Amino acid sequence: MKSPILLAGSLALAFAASLTQTPAHAQATKMDPGKSEFEANCAACHGLSGKGDGPVVPALKNKPTDLTQLAKKNGGVLPVPQLVETIRGEKRIDAHGTADMPAWGRRFRIAAIEHYVDMPYDPEAYVRARILTLVEYINRLQAK
Ligand code: HEC
Repeated sequence: MKSPILLAGSLALAFAASLTQTPAHAQATKMDPGKSEFEANCAACHGLSGKGDGPVVPALKNKPTDLTQLAKKNGGVLPVPQLVETIRGEKRIDAHGTADMPAWGRRFRIAAIEHYVDMPYDPEAYVRARILTLVEYINRLQAK
């Protein structure tokens, strides 16, 4: 039987070897839920950069807000509570959002029904988690 020290040593070596030969697919499948969520739901209008230059802009009545300037316009701090409410979009007079900027709270609540099917769940927790994931990514898009 190997001594614990030898075993630890060979494990450390195996670990070191695994670091030097990262398989190509490991890089490609790196998870970034905020980025994926943004690219799937927001980038068509707000652009991949968040600057408001997405491909469907010419078809919109209103120009999408430049999301990279939100912190700058608020004294250098991302206004997180307002941002969450804006994305949720349900405190507006028109709870479905404007024709141009959808109300995501309602959309995510519908997505939750499809996601959980017949399991018990907390729709509010699901909606909040998806919105906070987006806010975390928008935070990374902020212009310095
Ligand atoms: C169909 C186009 C469209 C999509 C998709 C879209 N937006 Fe918007 N968004 C807009 C437009 C247009 C505005 C400008 C304000 C308005 O018309 O309501 C806006 C404004 C905003 C604002 C700023 C509102 C304010 O008070 O200044 C935020 C934040 C925002 N969008 C976040 C998002 C996020 C996050 C997503 C994805 C989950 C998203 N948007 C998806 C079109 C879109």
